[in-house]
Amino acid sequence: MKKILFFCAVVMLLGLTACNKQQSVPETPQGPAFDEVLMTRRSIRSYDATKTISKEEVRQLLAAVQEAPSWANQQPTKYYVAISDEKLEAVQNAIYGNKDRVEGAPVLIVSTYERGKSGFFRGQPTNEIGDGWGAYDNGLSNCYLVLKARAMGFDTLIMGMRDGDALRSIFNIPAEETVMAVISLGYRDQEPNQPEHRPLDEVVKFF
Ligand SMILES: Cc1cc2nc3c(=O)[nH]c(=O)nc-3n(C[C@H](O)[C@H](O)[C@H](O)COP(=O)(O)O)c2cc1C
Repeated sequence: MKKILFFCAVVMLLGLTACNKQQSVPETPQGPAFDEVLMTRRSIRSYDATKTISKEEVRQLLAAVQEAPSWANQQPTKYYVAISDEKLEAVQNAIYGNKDRVEGAPVLIVSTYERGKSGFFRGQPTNEIGDGWGAYDNGLSNCYLVLKARAMGFDTLIMGMRDGDALRSIFNIPAEETVMAVISLGYRDQEPNQPEHRPLDEVVKFF
């Protein structure tokens, strides 16, 4: 009996240790501090064309992005990654005046979300925002993307100025997905201007 109790205690202890391991934040930071990521992430409009990013690095980035929250864990966001010369050129031709800004970027990522998932319950919109929650989740996911990219040493530009129909046909994107932003991924070749921010008290009200 004592042996069984001892065995159970050991199993429980091992289980608890495993749980703790899963949830704890590593004590030694693996990359730059979070605030540094926030402060150095900027919209980059000029890229070093001599530097490349591998498919494996993009996979690592997007695996981290999967940690982003979404409505009832619906995960409506999808990514279409242009990394071949042929697809890069096609996407460059579908982003209007942004083309010159991201010419040297080795990766262009098209972001979409599946409609009728986030904000819906049994096929019906849960509240007045409707499919807007899909766009909300998509923005959250994109936010993880640009911050994780910066933490990995990459730079990005989110582009809302793009030809959605052209992108849909380039990647054969299904009709039930809404095409959102194109995001460039690469290495900056010049330091960006720091944008001005509105005074905090203009945008935050305490009650
Ligand atoms: C939804 C969205 C769409 C944007 N579209 C474009 C765009 O088409 N072209 C561009 O050069 N910048 C675009 N931007 C970048 C913004 O201009 C930029 O985030 C803003 O000026 C603040 O600068 P920062 O990103 O360096 O902090 C977009 C940003 C967001 C969030």
